Amino acid sequence: MIEILSTSELARARVTGALVADILQALRKRSIAGTNLLEIDRWAREMIIGAGAQSCYVDYAPSFGRGPFGHYICTAVNDAVLHGLPHDYALADGDLLTLDLAVLKGGIAADAAISFVVGPSGRAEDAVMIATTERALAAGIAVARPGARTGDISYAIGAVLSAAGYPINTEFGGHGIGSTMHQEPHITNNGRPGRGYALRPGLLLALEPWVMADTAELVTDPDGWTLRSVTGSRTAHSEHTIAITDSGAEILTLPTSATQ
Ligand code: MF3
Ligand code: CO
Repeated sequence: MIEILSTSELARARVTGALVADILQALRKRSIAGTNLLEIDRWAREMIIGAGAQSCYVDYAPSFGRGPFGHYICTAVNDAVLHGLPHDYALADGDLLTLDLAVLKGGIAADAAISFVVGPSGRAEDAVMIATTERALAAGIAVARPGARTGDISYAIGAVLSAAGYPINTEFGGHGIGSTMHQEPHITNNGRPGRGYALRPGLLLALEPWVMADTAELVTDPDGWTLRSVTGSRTAHSEHTIAITDSGAEILTLPTSATQ
């Protein structure tokens, strides 16, 4: 299913997007040495419910996970990259944390992810890897406009990741989003320009470049959800939900000034 949003639905998408971004920023501030991943999950739950929104994750039971997710946010530490199931773990200075959050409010979902290093002093190569996924995301957004194709976005993202020397996994990538979190079209993090679905105003997309430092191969954690790098190398992930507009793309998951 591919949905094209009406003007009033787009207005609601902006509200959901800002909420997701603000919750992520608030949780980022609270993610210090000693913070437990289960606390982050509890705070996410409180903020989602407090805002009158619903979790897209808690009852989610896709083929790539074991049963309903049962939590409100994905927390992925170091070698964990996607679908990180919150568990009893206290963060340490230097940990590389990815928070990935999708919620539904007013009938419209938004999805975003941030990666950052906990504490004042991280590894230089982690900062480079995180910045690379952010640049790849910006490059994908920059080519998203009516008439461009999903392959143009994939190509733009993949070009940044490859130029920086990261292997690319194309099993999990970006996706359409709207009244539900995961919709067509699928947007791999590498691809051929000029191919795929032609973008139209009113289309919402979640773009999400992610990398592992030295491999493209994932391994599933015994928890049945968390995906890690097979080599144990560190990972990074950056995601925004965007709306295709008449002239380009609007990023919906930017934090509002109140939380920056
Ligand atoms: N929000 C994730 C994505 O970026 C999906 C997480 S699914 C979950 O598409 F079940 F693990 F939460
Ligand atoms: Co997503």
